[in-house]
Amino acid sequence: MQSLPRALRREPPGCLAEAEIAAAVLAWYDRHRRSLPWRAPPGVPPRPYVVWLSEIMLQQTRVEAVKPYFENFLRRWPNVAALAAAPLEAVMQQWAGLGYYSRARSLYACAQAIVAEHGGNFPTSEAALRALPGIGRYTAAAIAAIVFGQKAAAVDGNVERVLARLEALDVPLPAAKPLLAEKAARLVPDERPGDFAQAMMDLGATICTPRRPACGICPLHSRCRAAAQAMPEDWPRKRPKATRPHRRGAAFVLRRGDLLLLRKRPPRGLLGGMTEFPSTIWTDFYDPLTAVHAAPLVADYRRLPQAIAHVFTHFSLSLDVFLADVESEAPAGCRWVRDADLEAEALPSLMRKVAAAVRSSGW
Ligand code: ADE
Ligand code: SF4
Repeated sequence: MQSLPRALRREPPGCLAEAEIAAAVLAWYDRHRRSLPWRAPPGVPPRPYVVWLSEIMLQQTRVEAVKPYFENFLRRWPNVAALAAAPLEAVMQQWAGLGYYSRARSLYACAQAIVAEHGGNFPTSEAALRALPGIGRYTAAAIAAIVFGQKAAAVDGNVERVLARLEALDVPLPAAKPLLAEKAARLVPDERPGDFAQAMMDLGATICTPRRPACGICPLHSRCRAAAQAMPEDWPRKRPKATRPHRRGAAFVLRRGDLLLLRKRPPRGLLGGMTEFPSTIWTDFYDPLTAVHAAPLVADYRRLPQAIAHVFTHFSLSLDVFLADVESEAPAGCRWVRDADLEAEALPSLMRKVAAAVRSSGW
C-alpha cells in the first residue's frame, strides 16, 4: 500500500496508514511495555507528580541511572508540596551525581510555582505546563498525554529516531526536527495518547535502538522505509558533529586532620550551585606548572600522577589533582567538612571522581 500514490487510496491523505501505525504500536505496547517505577500499571491513573519528576530526571539521562534517584526522591518527598517545602540545599544534595544540575534547580522552582500559583495542583494544558520552570515542549507534551490523556506529541531523541527511520527521511538532524514533530503529531491517536507516547519511547529504547535496530521483531517493520534498506541504522541522518573541545584545570584537595576543604560553585553556569574541591577555571590554556598559584591556600602541594578525565556536553576535561595538608582556617567562601560527611554533600560526579582518586592514592 505504501507504494500506491495517495490519489489512488480511498482514505483521506495519510489517515489510515497513520491509524494503523498507532494501532500497531499500541498493540505491541500492551504485550511488551517496560515495567518502570514511575509508570502506573494498566488501568491505574498516573500521578502528575510522579510523571513530572521522572520526565525531568529522564531528560538526557538513561533509565537505569534514573531509577535509584527517582525512588529516593519519591520516598523523601512524596508529593509536590513536600518537595516545595524542602530546602534547596537538600534537593541539590539528593540530585548530586545525576548531572545537568540546572534541572534540579528548575525542578525545585517548578514545585514552588505549582504550590504558589496553582494551589499545589499541576495545570492540565500543555501551554500552562510549558510556562513552568524546567518544562519544555517535550516534557509538557509527555505530561499532558500521559497524565491528562491529551492528544499531545512527546518527541524526544528516541522518538525522532523511530520516525526518521519510518520515513527514511534524508533531511539531517537537527534541521529535520520540525518535520518529525509534524509527523509525530499526525500519528497520535484519539484513544490512549499517553500510552502511545510511552510506547514510542519504549520502542525507541528497546527495539529501534541507535546502533542495532531489531527490525525483525519490530511492530512497524512492514511499514518502515529504513528497514527496507540494507542499513536502517544509517537513519536519522546527522549533520557532522563539531568535535568536542578539550580543557584542562586543577582541583585542590586540602586536608586538616580529618577535614577537607570544600566550596560552593557560583549559582549560574556549569555545575552551578554544586559543591566542589576548590578548582581553577577550566580552559584550553591551563599550565600545570603555575596552577598552584590559583590554589585557595599557600601550601606544599603534590600532584596525583594521573589526572581525572571527565566528559561534559560541550567539552572534555582533564583535571589535575593537587593535595596538601594545612593547619589554616578556611579561606573566604570555603568551609571544612569531615571526610566522613562527604557523601552528604552536593558533589557532582566529577568531584566524586576526585575524592575517589585521592582515597585510592593512599594519601
Ligand atoms: N524516557 C523519557 N520518558 C520516558 C517514559 N515515560 N517512559 C520510558 N522512557 C522514557
Ligand atoms: Fe526501527 Fe527497524 Fe522498526 Fe524501522 S523496522 S522502526 S528501523 S526497528
